[in-house]
Formats: sequence, C-alpha cells, structure tokens
Amino acid sequence: MRGKYLLLSAIAFVSGLRFSSAQIKYPYRNANLSIEKRITDLLSRMTLDEKVGQLNQLNSGPLTGPEAGNGKGPKEMLQQIRDGKVGSLLNVVGAVETGNIQKIAVTESRLGIPLLFALDVIHGYKTIFPIPIAESCSWDPDLAEKCASAAAKEASASGLHWTFAPMMDLTRDPRWGRVMEGAGEDPYLGGVFAAARVRGFQGNLDNNHLLACVKHFAGYGAAESGREYNTVDISRYNLWNMYLPPYKAAVDAGAATVMNSFNIVDGIPASANKYLNTEVLRKKWKFRGFMVSDWSSFSEMINHGFAENKIDAAEKAILSGSQMDMESGVFIQHLKTLISSKKVPQKLLDNAVRDILYYKFKLGLFDNPYKYHNENHEKSVQLSSEMHELSKQASCKSMVLLKNENGTLPLDKNIKNILVVGNLATNRSASLDFWSAKGDTNQVTTYLAGIKSKFAKSEISFSEGYNEKNRFSTETENDMLTKAQKADVVIAVIGISGKLAGEARSLADIAPASGQMEMLRKLHSSGKKVIVLVHAARPMILTDVLPMSSSILYCWIGGTEMGAALAEILAGDYNPSAKLTMSFPHAVGQIPVYYNSFNTGRPHVDGRDGPDDFWVSRYRDIPNAALFPFGFGLSYTSWEYSNLELSSHNMDKNGSITCTLYVKNKGPLDGEEIVQLYIRDVSASYVRPIKELKSFKKLYFKAGESKKVEFTITPSMLSFYDPEGNTLLESGSFTVFVGKNSKEVQEASFVLK
Ligand code: BGC
Repeated sequence: MRGKYLLLSAIAFVSGLRFSSAQIKYPYRNANLSIEKRITDLLSRMTLDEKVGQLNQLNSGPLTGPEAGNGKGPKEMLQQIRDGKVGSLLNVVGAVETGNIQKIAVTESRLGIPLLFALDVIHGYKTIFPIPIAESCSWDPDLAEKCASAAAKEASASGLHWTFAPMMDLTRDPRWGRVMEGAGEDPYLGGVFAAARVRGFQGNLDNNHLLACVKHFAGYGAAESGREYNTVDISRYNLWNMYLPPYKAAVDAGAATVMNSFNIVDGIPASANKYLNTEVLRKKWKFRGFMVSDWSSFSEMINHGFAENKIDAAEKAILSGSQMDMESGVFIQHLKTLISSKKVPQKLLDNAVRDILYYKFKLGLFDNPYKYHNENHEKSVQLSSEMHELSKQASCKSMVLLKNENGTLPLDKNIKNILVVGNLATNRSASLDFWSAKGDTNQVTTYLAGIKSKFAKSEISFSEGYNEKNRFSTETENDMLTKAQKADVVIAVIGISGKLAGEARSLADIAPASGQMEMLRKLHSSGKKVIVLVHAARPMILTDVLPMSSSILYCWIGGTEMGAALAEILAGDYNPSAKLTMSFPHAVGQIPVYYNSFNTGRPHVDGRDGPDDFWVSRYRDIPNAALFPFGFGLSYTSWEYSNLELSSHNMDKNGSITCTLYVKNKGPLDGEEIVQLYIRDVSASYVRPIKELKSFKKLYFKAGESKKVEFTITPSMLSFYDPEGNTLLESGSFTVFVGKNSKEVQEASFVLK
C-alpha cells in the first residue's frame, strides 16, 4: 500500500508541473469577503457532481480498514481529483507528497477547490506520546492539551489538516482493543480530556494545528463482549448519562468534525441514525461543523441488514444528517440520482458542502493552499528535543504504581546489580501500537535502554525470559536464574505487545500469557525481589501477578520515551502520581466492572459473608469490586485525608455549598496527589449510580506539607439526564465522598431543597 501512495504522489508531481495555475477572479477567491459570502458564491458555481465530490473521502495510503473495493488506482484517483470528485484524502502524508496532490486539486480542477488531508493522529505523529488511556491516568488535562498540540504541530508540518481524534468512547471492557484510545470509564473525566484534546489539536486553527474529530458517535465503547465492530445495545438513559457527555464536551469545546460509529444505536446504525446525527448533535448540541462516516460505515449498513443496497445506504445516511463518506463510495455513486429523483432534498447536500467548505476557507486553503507543504519546516519540527522531552514527561505522568511493598521502589541509585527480564524489555516491534501514526520503533527508548542509561554505574544484565511468542523454555530459565542469583533486584517486564493494541485487536483473554507467568513463578521462588513492569494498552488481569511481585508499575504504552520515563520513576527522580481511569478486573468473568454502577435491589458489600449475604447480588468466587478500583494509584510518599466538612447541610437549587478537607503528605518525599470528589444522589426519579466523579484536584505537596483542599458543589454536579436528554435537578439527599480513589473515601451528606 505504501507503494500505492508514493506512486500517487509521484504521478501528481509530474502532472502538476504541466499546468499553470489559472487564477479565476471570482468572489469566492476574494479573501476580503466573509467566509459565508465566499461559500455562497462558490456553491452557486458548483455542478451537482462537484458538490457530491466534496462529500467523497478516499484512502490514498496504508489501509486502516478493509479494501473498500472502489477499484481506484492512483491514476484514476488523480483523475477524480481533477474532475472535482474528491473532497478529502486520508492516509497520505508528507509535506511534499501531499503538496503535489494539492497542486492538482488547486490548479487542475475546474474550480480549484483544495483537498483536506486527514490521518489518525491519535497520540503523536512522529514523536509518540503515551496512549490516550495512559495519558488520562495523569488526570492532567493541560498535559493532554500539550501533547495533542505537539502532535498537531508535527502532523500539520507533513501536510495534514485533519486528525480523526480524539476518541471519546466511554470504555468498560478491556477486552476491546480500542480502550487504549479513550479516557476510560468515567463520563466526567472523559469530557475533561475530550475538551483538552480538542483544544490541543485545533488551537487557533493555524497551520500548526489540525481539525479535530470527535469519535465514534455514539456509544462505540459499549460493543458487546468487547468484540470489535460488535452490536451495541444501551438504554437511552444510559446513553445520555454515561456515553454522550464526553462527546458533548468535545463539541462544546468547538470540535470541527464528528465521526459516525460502526455500531447500531436503538437498532439503527449510527451512520443513518437521525436521532443522533440531527436531533442530538445538530439540534440539541448546536454542532456547526461537519460529519464524516467511519471507514465504509455507510455501505456496511447493508451487512447490518438496514440498507437493501448501496443506493438505499446513501439515501438513509444523508437523510439522517451524515455528511462525508469515508471510503464506501456510496455518495459518489448514487447521491446525484437521489437528488435528481428528489428522494433527497438538494438542501441537505448543499448544507453538507457548506459545512465542509467552511473549514477549507477557515484553514486558509483557498488563499494559500500550499502553506502546509514546507519540507524544511517539516524536518525542523519533527522529533525535536522538545518533543522528546514532552514525551518523557507525559510518560512519567502516565505510569501507575499499583503495588510497592516495603518501599521496594525507588531503587537505590547505587544499586550494584540489576537483572532485567522479559522479551518486552527490548522488543522494539512490540513497543508501539497500531495507532502510532508515523512513529518509528527505532526511535523508542526501550525499557532496558532506559534502565541502562539511568543506572550507568550498576551492572545490568538481561535475560529474555519468554520469547516473542510468549514461550518460556528451560534454556532461558537457566540463563535467567543464574543471572538472578547475582542480582540485587529483578525487574520483570510482562504484558501484551503493542501489535495487539488498537482497532481490530479484541482479546478474550487479558491475563498475562502462560509463559510470562511461568517466568514470574520461577523468579518468585528464587527468593529475589521482583519488580513487575506491565507493558500493555489495556487493563490486564493481575490477580496472579500480585502475590509474586514486590512492586507493580503499570507502564501502559508510553511512546517514544517510555524507557527513559520508566528509569526516572525507578530511580525516584520522578515520584509516580498517576491514577487509574479504568477499573482493573479480578477475572475476565467480572467484566464489565466499573465504579459508577447502580446499587441493585440486593446490594452486597465485599467482605460481608453472614447469613443475610446469600440472596444478594454477588459472585461466590471473587469479590464484586475491581482488583484495582477507578482512581487508584500509589506514590512513593503517603497521604492522609482528614476533617471532611460541608459549609452547610442544606443547599438551594440555585445556590452552592463548599466541601473542605485536609490532605497531608505524610512521607519523606515531595509528590503530587489527585484528590477526587464523588457524589451520590441517594434517591431520585431514576436510579442513580452509587458514586460519580464530579471534580478533582491534582496538587503538589512538599514532604510533610498539609493543605486545606476546597471544592464548590454546584447544582450542575447534582443534575442528570432523563432518557430524552432533558436535564433534571431533584430535591433530596446527596452523599459527598472525597478520597484518594473511588474506594478509599470519607463521606458527608446534605439535602438539596
Ligand atoms: C476507525 C476509525 C479511523 C478510520 C480511519 C476506522 O476503521 O474505526 O477510528 O479513524 O478507520 O483510519
């Protein structure tokens, strides 16, 4: 496929040279007129074919979905561009490559309408930042904004205008390979990160930024059994309260585009779901940007059993409010007929073209179509030392310390001998995930490399343990145990290769592979202290790892500088502060397990086992609660929470109360703590979750320092949606919880009058 896109660019370059740019002096070319006027003028000059062309997006690079069968080679694609039948290309990159193609669109098509170039820039372009779920564990939206902005800077320098990010699907099922792309299981935190990433990607929409795309609208994170592309069936009540808030936050933050999801909602594919695309997005949320389908999601409505054929799919998609067609070709093939036969009102097409053209004007592409195609600029911004540094910082802030028995970590900087084991400690090809854009695994600082450079004075040995296929053999066992005997500490890297992270990578078994466990058992019985590092893009089942480790650090997939960041943490140069944004299950059978669940009519409290605890909602073999709850994460220092107080035990519907408490850093090291505020609506006209995150503060404390922490509780924190999306604020009792995670909390209550 790479060959295909290089060829496309080469042909574009050669043919582009043959043409001069015949500037036509029409109002839409006049930069002094308002965008609205320019669009109106341009629309009046466009043929029906050209209008439909603006809604056509084609892949011109490596596949990020199945071959759509458009049968277009590079030459045909360029001809389509000349004919004004393409509005956007995805997956072609490079300042020069995209510039060559843009030249064709601008100088050889009748009206010279520039193309939008798009790519999935999810967590970095060339410099790779931690995967989004890891980054969300920083609980630091400013960091997310910075990383998105840095990714946009690198990507726009390669000719790109548009990223298909952020993904804001709420995720409760770690079997789904795409949990890595989101911000976890909480709608509020998801919204905070959604907005931050939109701000970061889009900035002021200059040529150092990208249009953002809110995806996948809607509810894609609820794919049944965590199986990719699977059915989604959620109630409207759940949709409004849990799944929609992050998308709404992104729309409110000004996201330019929204992508349909592959799934059905209320039995109707999202791509043709009028309720979602028109009623919610346009009417309720006042979204003014444009929508794009997911890869072939329009034609896939035939497989869903919702459209009879492609023309039916095209009709249903556009009538619902969907707009640009990514790869399925149903619009370019059939929209003209549908308009001519009046099955689709012309106005719908015109509105869609308007929405798309708006951003082409807004980005300045009509006035300076080549401003994204400067090769020198491209070279100077990518992989710069600032980018590497930001990647390291972000990775430090994303790694979650899950266990640290007897202060095993940080390591003594003068430690004599360290053994690092596990194929993932050095395996570059497993270091990055599918969504690493143009990230190069050769740029990645591996875990072993990071440790070696940080502990330069120590003797560091390495043993592969399990191999790339996760097999553990007697040969490796001998090597490993011999080296372990000499070591003061063993650092064992386990997890799941980055190759199994991302789209189309669902897994039914998310416990460490048996070869990795065998390795851990041998190490544990050697009597050495074992520090376990987990390299994975989803929560794993760590139940059996816990007793065999002194410490567990969840590294996620930290990007280009993951090894350097890890070493900072091991050496105590960075005190871990990250906290989980998805619950970690005890066993696969417990999925979905999430903190903001409902109470049920027969609730159970883990640990209680009296005669009254039989006919209750519980497992007989494992606890109900997660192994590691939402919001959990340790530090090298320890925290004391005390004196939770409310300013009043009554609140008016148009008033507010404050909640204060003291947090003290009791340990010997400076550090950051994420103080979390949860609320429960005790009784309401619809049952409410047992706890919902409503606010948080990430604060820095000197060793021994104590701080008074204050939260303001406002009516919006107490309201919720009914199944139609109306906001309800109901009188009654509320419980406030504040703590270091969703489980270890102090509580107080008040009444809303
Ligand atoms: C994914 C989208 C992605 C698109 C383009 C689809 O298969 O679901 O998230 O943006 O491909 O690569």
